[in-house]
Amino acid sequence: MAEQPSIGGTAICPGSYDPVTLGHVDIISRAAHVFDRVVVGVVNHPVRKKKTLFTVEERVGFLEAELEKLRNVQVKAFDTLLVDFAREHSAKAIVKGLRAISDFEFEFEMNQLNRKLAPDIESMYLFSAPQFTFLSSSGVKELATFGGDLDDLVPPRVAARLQEALMRPRNETI
Ligand code: PNS
Repeated sequence: MAEQPSIGGTAICPGSYDPVTLGHVDIISRAAHVFDRVVVGVVNHPVRKKKTLFTVEERVGFLEAELEKLRNVQVKAFDTLLVDFAREHSAKAIVKGLRAISDFEFEFEMNQLNRKLAPDIESMYLFSAPQFTFLSSSGVKELATFGGDLDDLVPPRVAARLQEALMRPRNETI
């Protein structure tokens, strides 16, 4: 196998992770191959517009369970500006996944905002693996609500908690 290019230093992989999907796990694992240390930043902001399904403790717990084999990865909640969180951890990069054109507009804006606040912190994007380009946390919540199969989309413990939290009883009418 070809040697991985190594960037070194610390990277932040930020997100709401409500809940973590296998697409997120893939991006974090790939970042952990090229950076010395990865801090997964879980957004815990009570004034954010969208209320999350899972508490920040649950979201952190799902990620920790899934990433425990990666020795250079830590998971932490944050409720500050992303760039301040990155500085707190002496990170030189923010690493995110990019699935499709639909992600581009939002990420383009976030990249410009974060760059304005902290030009010394580089935003870097990893393209999602083909099997995850359609996958999103909101998509899996929709599937779970209607009893869809979550295999290969989220870790098994997350699938079980999603079904518990969202699955409508079969005889429920609209
Ligand atoms: O799409 P997500 O997963 O909710 O993204 C969250 C995050 C923090 C990666 C995104 O909102 C971002 O890049 N924000 C930059 C602005 C900022 O620092 N907001 C405060 C978050 S607590």
